Amino acid sequence: MSIHIGALKGEIAETVLLPGDPLRARFVAETFLQDAVCYNEVRGMLGFTGLYKGRRVSVQGTGMGIPSHLIYVHELLAEYGVKRAIRVGSCGAMQPDIRLNDILIAMSASTDSHINRLRFHGADYAPCADYGLFARACSVAEALEIPFRAGNILSSDVFYGDDPQAWKLWADFGVLAVEMETSGLYTEAARFKAQALSILTVSDSLLTGQALSSTDRERSFRSMMELALELA
Ligand code: HPA
Repeated sequence: MSIHIGALKGEIAETVLLPGDPLRARFVAETFLQDAVCYNEVRGMLGFTGLYKGRRVSVQGTGMGIPSHLIYVHELLAEYGVKRAIRVGSCGAMQPDIRLNDILIAMSASTDSHINRLRFHGADYAPCADYGLFARACSVAEALEIPFRAGNILSSDVFYGDDPQAWKLWADFGVLAVEMETSGLYTEAARFKAQALSILTVSDSLLTGQALSSTDRERSFRSMMELALELA
């Protein structure tokens, strides 16, 4: 067992899907996996291992934001031998041609977080997706006829910021959308020579203020899960 995960060694698969919401982890286990077993209830951050098309896969809630996300990712990589970490989350669109329900695959993650500057002594690390996982996600999405966009996203430390226009600078430089975890995930995976990828559904738009209803959120979540599970 690690500090925040109550699983025994071997109870977690080499591929782990990472939703922020632990109840999403339970939904995925109950909806998509066979013979799913819950291996973690510490702090309510549920984790399950089961089978998808005969392949072993785990799904672990991580909470919101880089610090919480990295507690789980670090323990999965450092203590449970996880080889592939795939975030499945939501994001807010920052470009006019990105719509609610769209699926984004994050090639790279900009950030306003200082967590990498702490690690790199003030210098800037450029967190990017694992190319093999990224290329496979693109071809699986094409095969499943799931439309997607790929590019740079922003992992922000702030959900309720003081400046409502702050996102526009990132948008001017082509950043597709904002979420709160991927920059940390890609860096930590690189540290442990593991593969990482973030697949995101657009749940709201910073341009229009629109947001998905919970029914629509579930529909786009299903396509994203299908795509992520095929990578296991
Ligand atoms: N900001 C940050 N994270 C998010 C958002 C957002 O607008 N939407 C979904 N995750």
